[in-house]
Amino acid sequence: MIVYFNGKYIEENDVKISPFDRGFQYADGVYEVLRTYNKKYFMINEHIERLKYSLTEIKIDFFDYYDKLFGIFDSLIRKNNYKDDEVTVYLQVTRGRAYPRTHQFPEKNTEPTVIITAAPVISKRELNKNGIKIILEKDIRWERCDIKSISLLPNVLINQKAKENGAHEAVWIKHGFLTEGTHTNFFGIKKGKVYSYPLSNNILPGITRMVISGLCSKLNIEFLNEGIKQNELDNFDEFFLTGTTTEVMPVTVIGNNKIGGGKPGEITTEIQSAFYDLTSGN
Ligand code: PDD
Repeated sequence: MIVYFNGKYIEENDVKISPFDRGFQYADGVYEVLRTYNKKYFMINEHIERLKYSLTEIKIDFFDYYDKLFGIFDSLIRKNNYKDDEVTVYLQVTRGRAYPRTHQFPEKNTEPTVIITAAPVISKRELNKNGIKIILEKDIRWERCDIKSISLLPNVLINQKAKENGAHEAVWIKHGFLTEGTHTNFFGIKKGKVYSYPLSNNILPGITRMVISGLCSKLNIEFLNEGIKQNELDNFDEFFLTGTTTEVMPVTVIGNNKIGGGKPGEITTEIQSAFYDLTSGN
């Protein structure tokens, strides 16, 4: 695979990363995942805005790059000869190489390490048709989940635990609320209204979440930025998850409890189909 590495397009095997790269040693970096539908980028400006936000929050200067990104994505798709309509782009920026190892920022400004890769989307639409099982887990992450940090160990461990429990995703519980999944945003539907945890330091401001909130208003479905309490789950009729590669994923089992007889809910299906319509016209 040809990848973009610090200004060059090179074979994946030719990438050389210093053992002193701060991404490698401290997870001192951020990332983005975006995608195309019908060969066109979807919500690309919103993804780039979120990248800017993450980088600004961790004080990495990436100023020279923003205008170049579209061109880099295009080149990667071309150089890899992808003919697919649907491609995902992964972009990671770390604070770069610094020696000696110090927790504080290096004395001299470092060059950020920039890696961008592209690959055909692995569709989850079959799963999206039937819905999935999730488990609920205590949120063991940090207090800045609004930053798309590459420090993902809690997400990795708990998503693995979900898999070992026959589930596809785990949703975090924080102060009694279901906040979001390990790599998805979470939604519940009660009496025809959609609820999702408010944008804050406790969740990633999902781009798909933003799209869903817009779709709900078009569909005349009320969208509330309100969290769902664990002890009020029984009052909800439907649940679903969203994400760039996840799209709209119905939740049909939470832990040992079937939701809606184990089938995707009616409103979830309506939102999912509106999402497919929107993206097919991208
Ligand atoms: N995950 N919440 C978390 C913790 C996430 O990691 C993601 C995305 C989302 C959904 O955001 P969006 O709709 O912008 O994709 C919510 C990416 C795709 C990943 O880690 O692969």
